Amino acid sequence: MFPHRHLLGIEGLSPADITTLLDLAETYATANRGSTAPEPVLKGLTQINMFFEASTRTQASFELAGKRLGADVMNMAMQASSLSKGETLIDTALTLNAMHPDLIVVRHPQSGAVNLLASKVNCAVLNAGDGRHEHPTQALLDALTIRRRKGRLHRLTVAICGDIAHSRVARSNMILLGLMENRVRLVGPKTLMPSGLDQMVAETTDDMREGLKDADVVMMLRLQRERMDGGFIPSEREYYHRFGLDAEKLAYARPDAIVMHPGPMNRGVEIDGLLADDINHSVIQEQVEMGVAVRMAAMDLLARTLREARDA
Ligand code: NCD
Repeated sequence: MFPHRHLLGIEGLSPADITTLLDLAETYATANRGSTAPEPVLKGLTQINMFFEASTRTQASFELAGKRLGADVMNMAMQASSLSKGETLIDTALTLNAMHPDLIVVRHPQSGAVNLLASKVNCAVLNAGDGRHEHPTQALLDALTIRRRKGRLHRLTVAICGDIAHSRVARSNMILLGLMENRVRLVGPKTLMPSGLDQMVAETTDDMREGLKDADVVMMLRLQRERMDGGFIPSEREYYHRFGLDAEKLAYARPDAIVMHPGPMNRGVEIDGLLADDINHSVIQEQVEMGVAVRMAAMDLLARTLREARDA
């Protein structure tokens, strides 16, 4: 049904895998709004959250997702761990592995670190964001939000705007939206466009009017300064003027366009604060809500694979 041991990226998933996961997440979204608790499908399993990089919503939502499904959840404070004493990622992984966890959720500042870790442990690993590489559960929660709001997840025009070069959110979304046969446009200053785009199907422009034309979905990104070494933009004021989304620029898109942002948001830099709160367009809170449902679904599916492997 979901033939994967880990969830390391959108790369490697099929359209059928994505649909399976989103359909299951939809049932959890319904359960989360109601008063009846879902089946504790993770009961007896141990989930360890290892966040080597700051996170608010992703970590909270993985923790809540695990607890709602009955897992024993442990958050490791990675800043305080042996890593700061010089232990390598591999040694940390092997130490944890010896404690027999079932699910490990990892966020790491280096691209590829989560894949490396997954190759050293026996349990299921979920990537909660690695460098500028992938952030699969973010793309899946975005997809679920789009599907709920637009009634479909194909043949939509999606404009992803801002700091594309440093964004694992953009990368995972580009792959997912492409797989589901949508039209993806990347909009941002040339200095913030990734190199080697040719392998990915996307149009690029540094003009918001052109980029947002007829868009069904406008996805805004934060300027990820922690991954920039040097000045990529002249000033925040200038950036907001050209690329910041406000009502005026949103008017280039379709009248029923939805506005998305993975958070954390910098109001007045990439997005106007009023627009971010405008429930006629903004679905930012629904993205957060879907985050819990998607992570419940992802861990449920991986736990099934885990149990099948152990029973075999
Ligand atoms: C994103 C991330 O960490 O990649 N945030 C998130 O997970 N909601 C985007 C960002 O940091 O700008």
